Amino acid sequence: MARAKSKSERSGDSQDAIALLKADHRQVEEWFEEFCAAPDDDRKQELATLICNALKVHTTIEEEIFYPAFLQATDDLKLHHEAEVEHDGAKKLIAEIEGSSPDDEYFDAKVTVLFEMIKHHVKEEEKTGGMFAEARKSEMDLDALGAQLAARKADLEGEAEEGDDVPPSGGKMERSEVERMMKETR
Ligand SMILES: [Fe+2]
Ligand SMILES: [Fe+2]
Repeated sequence: MARAKSKSERSGDSQDAIALLKADHRQVEEWFEEFCAAPDDDRKQELATLICNALKVHTTIEEEIFYPAFLQATDDLKLHHEAEVEHDGAKKLIAEIEGSSPDDEYFDAKVTVLFEMIKHHVKEEEKTGGMFAEARKSEMDLDALGAQLAARKADLEGEAEEGDDVPPSGGKMERSEVERMMKETR
């Protein structure tokens, strides 16, 4: 049976949490594909920067907002912890790519391996029985979470534009901070 459409899907205004996170996945995949066919080092550098920044924002909003809400709603420690461990692996490689350049003999290999890791992680999140499917089955308010994710994403992207580096995700917010944000977006 087809699932009922969420409020955001019906109104077409803002995205629900899963639609927003999936759109991030598609954008990064597109940049990775472009990287593989990039004509020169300048374009490779540009794309690597876009990919690393987008992944830092994406992993941050997942870890600060979506993953804790998922864990609270489902108690699924296995899916939650595996996702966090996969993020940690990707973050190490992102830091290495940021500290290197297309002049580095290993630059392409690092970006390619990051792509492989991200493909695996995205498949885990989006597959049947994966985190997103389980989130849809749960009582999570995906419309409200979508608004929170969009607000935090805009903040982080704004910080990056102002020249502040996007902080590496992993510094989890205190619970009080998450609750404050939830109140603000209500
Ligand atoms: Fe994701
Ligand atoms: Fe993730």
